[in-house]
Amino acid sequence: MIGIAVFSATGNTYRCAVYLKEKLEAQGEQVSLFRIERGIEIPEEIPEVLVIAYPIHGFNAPYNVMNFVRNLPSFKGEQRGAEGQKGENAPKVYFLKSSGEPLSLNDRSSFAPARILAKKGYEIMGEFHYVMPYNMIFRHSDAMAAKMFAAAKKRMDKDSFAISKREKREMRSGAASKIACGVCKIERWGMRFNGRFFKVKKDKCVACMKCVKNCPVGNISYEDGKFRFGGKCVGCMRCSFLCPTDAFRIGLMNFMRVNGAYDFSADPEKAAIGKYCRKAYEKYFRETEEKYGEKGKSPVEVVAAFIKDGDRFMICRRPEGKARAGLWEFVGGKAEAGETLEQALERECREEIGVSVRVGNVFTETLYDYPDISVHLTIFYATIESGTPRSMENNAIAWIEPSEIPNYSFCPADIPIMKRIMEEGMG
Ligand SMILES: Cc1cc2nc3c(=O)[nH]c(=O)nc-3n(C[C@H](O)[C@H](O)[C@H](O)COP(=O)(O)O)c2cc1C
Ligand code: SF4
Ligand code: SF4
Repeated sequence: MIGIAVFSATGNTYRCAVYLKEKLEAQGEQVSLFRIERGIEIPEEIPEVLVIAYPIHGFNAPYNVMNFVRNLPSFKGEQRGAEGQKGENAPKVYFLKSSGEPLSLNDRSSFAPARILAKKGYEIMGEFHYVMPYNMIFRHSDAMAAKMFAAAKKRMDKDSFAISKREKREMRSGAASKIACGVCKIERWGMRFNGRFFKVKKDKCVACMKCVKNCPVGNISYEDGKFRFGGKCVGCMRCSFLCPTDAFRIGLMNFMRVNGAYDFSADPEKAAIGKYCRKAYEKYFRETEEKYGEKGKSPVEVVAAFIKDGDRFMICRRPEGKARAGLWEFVGGKAEAGETLEQALERECREEIGVSVRVGNVFTETLYDYPDISVHLTIFYATIESGTPRSMENNAIAWIEPSEIPNYSFCPADIPIMKRIMEEGMG
């Protein structure tokens, strides 16, 4: 079970969190998403994996996210193993953060919440960082917003598999971000102070009360025809960004005000990168293509069959002369150009074990980077319609029960799947 706890003032981080949820669900994960907002309770049971998603404010996590982290229950002692190492049940935490710019000054923002959670016994797994349009300081074009979200989605297509596989990710930070992060903590107090100077222009306000209802910390009230601002402002800019008539004035920071939601359906191809942080944006988009896009190691589509016979299922040993020779896997192979995945599996079963199969639903899918090849493996339930399985390509065949899995050495991509079959059965 994966829980995504998201704070998002103006929708960017939420947009990413929803996409990540969809990707994880497509990989067979059960995912719940809840918002870090006033009035929302922390779930009593902390999921096995918790993704904490937030926008970077002043190179740090916003203070309401820090409060959420401080209020999470402790697992220290209770669920830790002997000699201080983490027990099997310590919740695993990933951070997902969005920010307006890709500068390395943003690198350290998850360190403080990670430190608090590590002390409470959580296992810190790493973070994912997506650049999204600014909601303060200046306005990106809609095309640039669309380009940013397209890049974030490309990254999440792959990053989601890291979460499914419970892979650790590096959290890096240099000296400059350490200084920026330390100095800018003052921003949290600055925002509370500045929030008292917010004003609503009466001639523009249409009294829709969206700002009052939607402030994530309940900092805005409206009495006797007057708006009042308390001392709890997170500086999230939801009120001024989403005001339908741009009636807000945001105190000393008014010159940085941005109003109006972005149109993410704009054409990303029309995006022009402005002068501000140009090199950093160019690097971010270039890296996205190199590491996550078609220009990078785009994964080869591989299909495999989960064929059951009573309490047993079929596995095959890779023949000599092939990569990973001697290791066991499900029967299957690479899809060829022009084939659907189902057609590829029918062909592979004919060629490798001489049977024709009926291909059913997807059992699971995974992404794995071997040194020689990056594979996107889709495993389908399949039933033999005609023929008796026999070795056609010097590959051995075995029918095994889940309890026999430890007796075989499997290809690395199959190991988590075998673990799942051992734990949950054949489904
Ligand atoms: C008060 C405030 C401070 C911000 N500070 C930073 C920052 O230090 N670095 C950065 O790259 N973006 C910064 N941003 C931009 C947001 O992180 C970015 O627009 C984010 O995607 C907003 O996410 P949301 O729509 O989920 O709230 C800041 C935004 C606000 C409102
Ligand atoms: S959101 Fe804007 S228009 Fe609506 S009540 Fe607030 S200030 Fe007025
Ligand atoms: S007053 Fe506005 S900027 Fe401050 S926390 Fe509320 S919605 Fe965010």
